[in-house]
Formats: sequence, C-alpha cells, structure tokens
Amino acid sequence: MNEPKLPPGLLFGTATAAYQVEGAAGEDGRGPSIWDTYCRTPGRVARGESGDVACDHYHRYAEDVALLAELGVDLYRFSVSWPRIQPSGRGRPNPAGLAFYDRLVDTVLAAGVEPVLTLYHWDLPQALEDEGGWRVRDTARRFGEYARIVAEHLGDRVNHWITLNEPFCSAFVGHAVGRHAPGTREGTPALAAAHHLLLAHGAAVGELRACDAGRVGITLNPDHLLPATETEADRAAVERARTLHNRTWFDPLFTGAYPDNEQEVWGELADGSYRREGDLEAIGQPLDFLGVNFYRPIMLRDVPHEQADPRLRTAVDIGAEQVSFQGARHTTMGWPVVPESFADLLVDLDRRYPGLPPILITENGSAEADEPDEDGRVHDEDRIAYLRDHLSALARAIDAGVDVRGYFVWSLLDNFEWAYGYDRRFGLVRVDYENLERHPKDSYHWYRDYLTSHRLRR
Ligand code: NOJ
Repeated sequence: MNEPKLPPGLLFGTATAAYQVEGAAGEDGRGPSIWDTYCRTPGRVARGESGDVACDHYHRYAEDVALLAELGVDLYRFSVSWPRIQPSGRGRPNPAGLAFYDRLVDTVLAAGVEPVLTLYHWDLPQALEDEGGWRVRDTARRFGEYARIVAEHLGDRVNHWITLNEPFCSAFVGHAVGRHAPGTREGTPALAAAHHLLLAHGAAVGELRACDAGRVGITLNPDHLLPATETEADRAAVERARTLHNRTWFDPLFTGAYPDNEQEVWGELADGSYRREGDLEAIGQPLDFLGVNFYRPIMLRDVPHEQADPRLRTAVDIGAEQVSFQGARHTTMGWPVVPESFADLLVDLDRRYPGLPPILITENGSAEADEPDEDGRVHDEDRIAYLRDHLSALARAIDAGVDVRGYFVWSLLDNFEWAYGYDRRFGLVRVDYENLERHPKDSYHWYRDYLTSHRLRR
C-alpha cells in the first residue's frame, strides 16, 4: 500500500475535548456547564447519556498520556473545562481545577509530547448561560478573564493556544438548530451569539498576547459546499450557506469586514444591534495559526424560504437543504467519505483568503461501527482507509501551495459524541464503557507505524 507522502516538517497529533472525555463532572469543585443541563433534559441526548463519567480521563489521564507516548505523536490537543476553572464563570479560579491541568500538562510534556490547549470546546458555565450566555456581550468579557487565568497559570508550559473550537456549532447548532446546548431555536440571538463568540476570541487573543503565552489561533470548521445541480438557484443557495458556515467567521477574522451578503441571507434577523464600533479591530487581530476541522463535504439545493415551517424559521433557515451524496461510503455519522473535498476546501480557502496564517488540521477522523473480534482486537479497516485517503488529499493541498503545518486525528479515544452519545466511535483507542478499559484499535497501530516511517524519511 502506498502511504501518503507528506513534508518532513509536518507535525502529527491526536485530539480530545474536556466534556467528551473527562467525566468527574461533580468533582473537585467543578461547576455545571450548559452540556450538563442539556444532557439532563429528557429527549436531548440519545439514550439519556451524558458526560458525567465519559472516559474517566480525569482519573485515567496518565494511562491516556502513556498511549499518546506509545503512539509517537508530536502534539496532543485537549481542552480546558471553563467550569472547572471558574465554577460560576467568574471570579477567583478554583485551585483544584487548575491543579488537574497542571498534572495533565506536566505528564504530556514528560512524555515528550507538546500540548495544544483549546480554551473553549462548548462547555459554557451554566451560571453564565443563566445571564444570557453567548447572546450577551458580557460573556465575551468573561471569556477574556478566564483566558487570562489559564494563560497565567499554564503559559510557561503550553506553547499553542486555541481560543474557540468550531464557534459555528456553538452559535448555530446551539442557538438555531437546537441540537447542541443550550438547545434553542432562535433568530437574531443566534446571530448575536456568533458575534459575541468572535468578540470572546478577540478578548482572549488580547489576554494571551499580554501574557506572552505563545502561539495563538482559533479552530474553525469551514465546510466544503457543493451545489446539487449547476442551476443558478442551487449555486445561490450554496453562496448563502457559505456565509452561514464560513464567511461569518473567516471574513471578520481575516478580512476585517462582515460578509457583504448578510441582508440577502438573513434579512431582518441580521439587525446588527449587537455590533459596536471597534469590534472588528478586536476580532481581527493577527493570529499565528488557523485550526481547521474537516470531516465531510455538504451538498445543497435551493428551497423556498416560505416553505419552511415558520416555527423553524430561524437564523439558519437560509433557503437551502442538504442533499445526500450518491456513490460515496457513509460513516456511522451518516457523513459521506469524499477525501478530494478536503484538498479542494483547503485550496479554495487559500485562494479566497490570501494571507491566511499557517494551518493546523486540528481534527479529522471517522466514526465507524467497530466491534472487537473474538481476540478482542478492533480491525477498523474503514477508519484506516479514511485516514490514509485524507492524508493523501492533504498532501495534494500542500503540493498545491497551502501552508499546512500539522494534522490531528479526532480522536485519541472513543468518547461522548454530543447529542449522539457513546455509540458513535471516533477513537484510535476503543473504550469499553462497561469497565473503562482502553484497547488500541488497528488504526492506532497503523497511525503509529505511519508516523515512524514518516520520521525515517525526514
Ligand atoms: C467536531 C467537534 O469539535 C468534536 O467535538 C466532535 O466530536 C467531532 N467534530 C466529531 O463530530
């Protein structure tokens, strides 16, 4: 088998996020987050599952870091739980919360792996949600204070900082689709949430710079959007979706302007009441890297706005509807596997936004129906093929001139896949939720061998 040939300096890692792996939800003074609340609301998460125990990484982190060391990755991306650090989202830090991340970071460093820290992977302290959450401007200021606490504490050891993970999901999946916490279907408040998330990013960048914390970036999930047909109507639907999914984030961050078609996309919902002078400057501060998460492309067709159920006519009713991909394999998320889209997306972003900072692929991976064999091993050939083909696509994008410096597999472990619960497994390592034992899958061994041969070519 021809393994993908990537440039010698490219760095490799794996990623996780606090709520998805840590568990220990009630321990050491951690406060409740919007995901605790969401999981406790009947009907929200499959089978009523929650992150209360998850992979118990909070207690088993040393075993997990040993797996990272054995895997031979350069980087480990994890997130800090804001409600562990500030249980009510404000005020003095909780020493036990900081101490956990001290232990984690020190163990990662001792294993010869570099930590990449995400400040916000969706677990807003519930106390802040009770005051309006991301819909209100004050939450951005609070996020700056939280960033400062973490930077002052870990800035001496952590060199890569990601402010937010996929703010698209926080804003729109959380406040307009309602499939993520806080789980509402709102119009203008969802757009306000998007803006306040960007402002929060800006506030954190300011604090991280003031603390001289190291390299600073944000992780976005730009979508590769394709029209179902080449008709003008479907192409226009794609352009509206591009504003929702991509331009809302990329334009203010990297061009210093809001998308110029907002009125067309959102009409009166985009009343701009939540914007103030100076916001764009705060949002658009230079970054050292851009994190990109990629899983699958999206195909869209035009549908008339007025056909949508008025109760569902929210910020995300942009008159476009997803169409399924014919001929592609689909993962257990129902996502089509189309590796060329990964290369196409990266090249497209590079052309649309000249001067983007260097890119880290902060997530890529697949959920598969892997079950252990009689011998206890997981022969996850589909995941290996997914990773191999996406790495080959990455090589093509790099050959085409896109400046990519790193790649992380999502995820090190099977974990809590948000509203889908535990049966969507993304891990290189299987977690047996009966006893929380870890079992490296074939993909883990494949990735380890791939990294070894990649290094030999360096
Ligand atoms: C993106 C999110 O950042 C992560 O939390 C999630 O598990 C993966 N996508 C897979 O859906």
